Amino acid sequence: LEILIKGLRRLEYRGYDSAGVGIDGGNSKEWESNAKSIHLIKQRGKVKALDEEIHKQQDIDLDVEFDVHLGIAHTRWATHGVPSPVNSHPQRSDKNNGGVCLEFQNKGKNLESKGYEFESETDTETIAKLAKYMYDNRESDDLSFATLVERVIQQLEGAFALVFKSVHYPGEAVGTRRGGPLLMGVRSDHKLSTDHIPVLYRSSGKDKKSCSSIPRTDQDTCLFPVDEKAVEYFFASDASAVIEHTNRVIFLEDDDVAAVVEGRLSIHRIKRSAGDYPARAIQTLQMELQQIMKGNFSSFMQKEIFEQPESVVNTMRGRVNFDNNTVTLGGLKDHIKEIQRCRRLILIACGTSYHAGVATRQVLEELTELPVMVELASDFLDRNTPVFRDDVCFFISQSGETADSLMALRYCKERSALTVGITNTVGSSISRETDCGVHINAGPEIGVASTKAYTSQFVALIMFALLMCDDRISMQPRRREIIQGLRVLPDLIKEVLSLDDEIQKLAEELYKNKSVLIMGRGYHYATCLEGALKIKEITYMHSEGILAGELKHGPLALVDKLMPVIMIIMRDHTYTKCQNALQQVVARQGRPIVICDKDDQETIRNSCRSIKVPHCVDCLQGILSVIPLQLLSFHLAVLRGYDVDCPRNLAKSVTVE
Ligand code: UD1
Ligand code: BG6
Repeated sequence: LEILIKGLRRLEYRGYDSAGVGIDGGNSKEWESNAKSIHLIKQRGKVKALDEEIHKQQDIDLDVEFDVHLGIAHTRWATHGVPSPVNSHPQRSDKNNGGVCLEFQNKGKNLESKGYEFESETDTETIAKLAKYMYDNRESDDLSFATLVERVIQQLEGAFALVFKSVHYPGEAVGTRRGGPLLMGVRSDHKLSTDHIPVLYRSSGKDKKSCSSIPRTDQDTCLFPVDEKAVEYFFASDASAVIEHTNRVIFLEDDDVAAVVEGRLSIHRIKRSAGDYPARAIQTLQMELQQIMKGNFSSFMQKEIFEQPESVVNTMRGRVNFDNNTVTLGGLKDHIKEIQRCRRLILIACGTSYHAGVATRQVLEELTELPVMVELASDFLDRNTPVFRDDVCFFISQSGETADSLMALRYCKERSALTVGITNTVGSSISRETDCGVHINAGPEIGVASTKAYTSQFVALIMFALLMCDDRISMQPRRREIIQGLRVLPDLIKEVLSLDDEIQKLAEELYKNKSVLIMGRGYHYATCLEGALKIKEITYMHSEGILAGELKHGPLALVDKLMPVIMIIMRDHTYTKCQNALQQVVARQGRPIVICDKDDQETIRNSCRSIKVPHCVDCLQGILSVIPLQLLSFHLAVLRGYDVDCPRNLAKSVTVE
């Protein structure tokens, strides 16, 4: 239990919301009667809460010794079903018999009709039930655990990483993956039989029925400590969970089935494909724990900035079809007709999430042809803003717990408006209390300064705008243009991230200043606000996002040859006006640094320094213009010697008004 709990703690940096363990029963006083049971303990909240729950259990005798034992543990970041003990993993195949840890809906319904009773709202449970179904319907009693698992995963669609434990196979463990990460750690004080474990292929053209009786392992095909000495195997989704026990690991490939039986590890695959490497090597990791958790990054914020090519894909996954230019948002499908009939859209949020509303307002207005208001939650409440039943109110929040946004949500509900959440946290208050919504699926964000959640909120709102006009013939060319822009977005983000060294040099020139002004207009006004917020939050420098159209109405007075000015100039409908602003700044001896389109020679010539980003469709360009400012704020904070992930005076989730 200590190893399991510690392993979970090592994964907790990802911000999980519930956790559970499954251990061999039979460690209670009535050992004999419990020998064939599995004890599941699960709890909502942090791993600490699970640990406390474990220590409350009366019927576990922690002093019993086993020759062989196997425990499984899991921390969850809810995507299917809210965080709760019953939705926590491990999931079991059958209530009376704690067990293992798709097309989900179809399989689930089929199994239900066959008398398998489901307890949770998770898709994982279907896998446990499916395993039991296949076991109950096995053709012979010598079906091995590995073969059973192979049969189960043949029925699964999508990504997974699984570890199975069963009362029918005591002391045995089987792990498998597809898409999800899974590695194995091996610890033994004794010499191991091999450092290359050959892969065992099931199909060799033989009669399929007999395959379960083919001897699955022998001396030459599995890993074990020579002389039958003690050995420990660890299955983990991340090396950080095992590194303190061993640095010898095997990375499993997609569709590998790894089985541990009587201290021997063997690796199985259903069939051999061309190009498969027929063995898995034991590798020695040289990394420190801290390094693994953050990868090669020095802080979570930096890691999250660099994750954006993947996180935007996760936001769009299963929702945008680039081949037929359609968008599906499962969370809105029952309400979209009602939303299309509304009189006004109101976007309500705080901080970075508010900026995501500002960033997408124009394209929402364009594609929905509705009036769109963007409101800071606190100010919206202070004003007692009139809200009506034919309004649709959006609540944008990474955490889904921000008190101001939540109060505004309740205020709108009281006035019978339809409420829609855009959140990153399944099971959060905003996710639960809104009538419907979209989870942005950006993955947990740890750094206090929000980065990948912003770009994913941006993408989610764009998807909503596209959905709103999917049956408008006149909008189709524009929709296609935007959807094809979304398709190339991850590659363009990568291109922007490759400017990191250049931006670091810029930070070296700027970090001793007291203030930075950031100017832009149109689609990039939000980038100015967001860039300035990032700089304030983590570098403690003064920074202001200024609408370039307002320059001559006041802020121009701040410009002189010393004041650092960053300007965003892109080739959209505001281009000429932005050039104008650039001239005004240069005329006051300002020395603007310009973030511009890499092909815009005129702007590059007129500025003293430029950060050149690739071109994308106008309404998505704001995603590419904000990333240089995320990187800049990060480097400024590092140079100024501050803790990037935990800035002073700020909290990740502000649950008080
Ligand atoms: C859902 C599943 C996802 C699964 C997919 C398969 C959940 C949380 N998501 O994703 O795991 O892969 O189906 O079809 O189970 N909601 C709110 N307020 C919010 C956010 C969401 O009420 O702020 C509601 C939605 O209206 C919906 C539910 O939560 O009823 C899930 O939303 P979302 O995760 O966005 O739905 P899908 O993308 O369909
Ligand atoms: C806090 C954070 O103030 O809440 C900000 O420090 C964040 O970074 C803001 O943007 C809103 O949070 P959320 O979770 O509602 O998006």
